[in-house]
Amino acid sequence: MSTSQAPVTDLQNPMNNIEEWDDYVASRYQEGKSEEEFRNYAADANPGVTEFYRQNHAHQSLAFVREKRDQYLKLNRGKKSIWEAAEYLNTLVDDSDPDTDLTQIEHLLQTSEAIRRDGHPRWFVLAGLIHDLGKVLCLYGDPQWAVVGDTFPVGCAYSDQIVFPEFFAANPDSKVPEYQTLYGIYEPNCGLDNVLMSWGHDEYIYNVTKNYMPEPAQYMLRYHSFYAAHRHGAYRHLMNKHDEQMFEWVRKFNPYDLYSKGADRPDFKELKPYYEDLVAEYFPAQIDW
Ligand SMILES: [Fe+2]
Ligand SMILES: [Fe+2]
Repeated sequence: MSTSQAPVTDLQNPMNNIEEWDDYVASRYQEGKSEEEFRNYAADANPGVTEFYRQNHAHQSLAFVREKRDQYLKLNRGKKSIWEAAEYLNTLVDDSDPDTDLTQIEHLLQTSEAIRRDGHPRWFVLAGLIHDLGKVLCLYGDPQWAVVGDTFPVGCAYSDQIVFPEFFAANPDSKVPEYQTLYGIYEPNCGLDNVLMSWGHDEYIYNVTKNYMPEPAQYMLRYHSFYAAHRHGAYRHLMNKHDEQMFEWVRKFNPYDLYSKGADRPDFKELKPYYEDLVAEYFPAQIDW
């Protein structure tokens, strides 16, 4: 995809930019919204977002997920520091919205600063800073539906707690009876580590950083887009006790992801010394991507 606004003729990238998905999710879970209003989630989605979900649900099959894991999880795309990855992600310019010209790094800093203001541990702040760096997948040339979107397990029945469940009818896995039972290819309460999730920026950044971050942060990174589970309590039949405990952290993280976007522009220069120390505390100079 291009590094600026995707043309409307770009069928693989129906949203003007991937932030449209983040904005849509934030509107879906707007504070004070009733369950009934939430159920009307389709009304909040613009045609680009709706088309994005149509593609995401149609194409995120078990075979596709295995292919992407094979392609990316060897982490053989070169070494980069956290900062180099952030600068790289920053080349994904959003010039479609004249009102918010915040860079990707600024969005990440708004999340981490909100976490820091609430006095959370340093690794929690760091999770905020890095949680969306997996969006560099876009710059590797992957379509929007393979980078962002609500994530969900593949190889088992789709929960009706996933938005736009009707779009799963077009997924090839819908025609495979073995994949459409409650447990599908999995065992009851087998633990999410044994479950393959739809592919996207969450699973990628989790794998890139898992050797360096404490476990609650790993869960935050890996499952922050798994709304059906952390917001709606779906898929507990695949989770084990440990997942249940760790999801308290995922739920703690989510409001910072959703609601920290503000008008105030973080001063990267002023904040940089703090974050350079923080990154250096957990990460070596460069890591494999
Ligand atoms: Fe994200
Ligand atoms: Fe985010």
